[in-house]
Amino acid sequence: MKISVIGCGYLGTVHAACMTELGHNVVGIDVDPEKIALLAPGTPPFYEPGLPEMLSRAMTTGRLRFSTEISNVRGSDVHFVAVGTPQLAGSDAADVSFVMAAVASLLPYLAPGNLVVGKSTVPVGTAGQLADIVTAHGSGATLAWNPEFLREGFAVKDTLAPDRLVYGLEESDGRGAAMLDAVYARAIAIGTPKVVTNFATAELVKVAANAFLATKISFINAMAEVAEATGADVTQLADAIGHDVRIGRRFLNAGLGFGGGCLPKDIRGFMARAKELGVDQALTFLAEVDQINNRRRERMVDLAREVVGGSLLGKRIAVLGLAFKPDSDDVRDSPALDVALRLVESGATVIATDPQAVATARRRYPDMTYVATPNEAAKDADAVLLLTEWHEYRELDPLAFGELVGTKAILDGRNCLDPVAWRSAGWTYRALGRP
Ligand code: UGA
Repeated sequence: MKISVIGCGYLGTVHAACMTELGHNVVGIDVDPEKIALLAPGTPPFYEPGLPEMLSRAMTTGRLRFSTEISNVRGSDVHFVAVGTPQLAGSDAADVSFVMAAVASLLPYLAPGNLVVGKSTVPVGTAGQLADIVTAHGSGATLAWNPEFLREGFAVKDTLAPDRLVYGLEESDGRGAAMLDAVYARAIAIGTPKVVTNFATAELVKVAANAFLATKISFINAMAEVAEATGADVTQLADAIGHDVRIGRRFLNAGLGFGGGCLPKDIRGFMARAKELGVDQALTFLAEVDQINNRRRERMVDLAREVVGGSLLGKRIAVLGLAFKPDSDDVRDSPALDVALRLVESGATVIATDPQAVATARRRYPDMTYVATPNEAAKDADAVLLLTEWHEYRELDPLAFGELVGTKAILDGRNCLDPVAWRSAGWTYRALGRP
């Protein structure tokens, strides 16, 4: 099929490359000329495992192009809208202006039988409004809502082999459903579950899934708070309750909590929309989920203060990890970067490192000190804080690493180190929710 993808961020770039891999003919559009200058010869503008290889493969097929010029969508059958919906400044609500602008910019190029497909995460009700705009324009195109569930770090795999497909359609739009089936023919052929529903359900599926995941993480982090007051170990507690298949062990890793460009802003946007709909009481628990999450960051700073003897002023702190999670260079609402900045505000000298996110962190906060490796960060440190569980940090040798620091004190913000190994190498080991 001929496909256009509007918006070449984490979602759109991966989607465009994967659609090419699936055999389609694709044009990716973005308003940012710098991004397109990188993408045009096949360089991803961000870090995502497997994407560089897939992009260069896609470019060699001659079926993938990138452009800033929206008129290049002309001739596509399916137009995916994959632009961002960030949190509005000074509000919990999502900013849908980029989605609105993307659809408006498409209108002059739509032809009869075209399908506009929303992928962005939007407040429930947006798809209906957009469908009216597309219909009123009179091109004969229709609109579908097809939320995306990819995880950063696994984006290529999640796009090529999603765990489910959700189509939000107008009741009569059998043609739209058939077009989506053609786009996702490979996933459908291997039996990927498909839910075909109305717009509101499709929009809600996305935010409900993220709200559930955020709640699961905050639940275990709430248990960590209780564990800290009682001498219990939250990681063992998670293992034990996770054996119950009704609960499950995944997304029960206690630690610094969730961040990134999706979970935090999506639960806030969901609460804001519920308020508009008069059902805010149904989601007040999400405010608690958000607060539990933020308290973990404060707790981490308090723990650091405690470990260095009561004041962070002038203390040298090594920060390992800046990305919101491993295998990503994304620092949007990153718990790690937030803790690093709080330490700086408390008067500490922070030496921060990350395998991929130094450049993105530096762009936002140029004044912090960044180094390339954990060894450089650790030199003469009064304490080491592990804030993103990158594989290479999990594998650090406590004996050799201990030779570098001023004081052997490690705070494991992600419960990913072996306390026994670190303590027996002479370290003070502290973690969230563990004795
Ligand atoms: C999340 C969802 O998992 C995706 O399904 C969804 O498509 C995406 O948001 C989105 O809306 O676009 P992502 O933000 O890439 O994906 O990251 P997650 O793997 O969900 O992790 C989110 C945060 O939770 C990270 O900061 C991670 O460190 C934290 N987390 C995760 C925990 O603190 N504990 C856990 O057990 C799991």
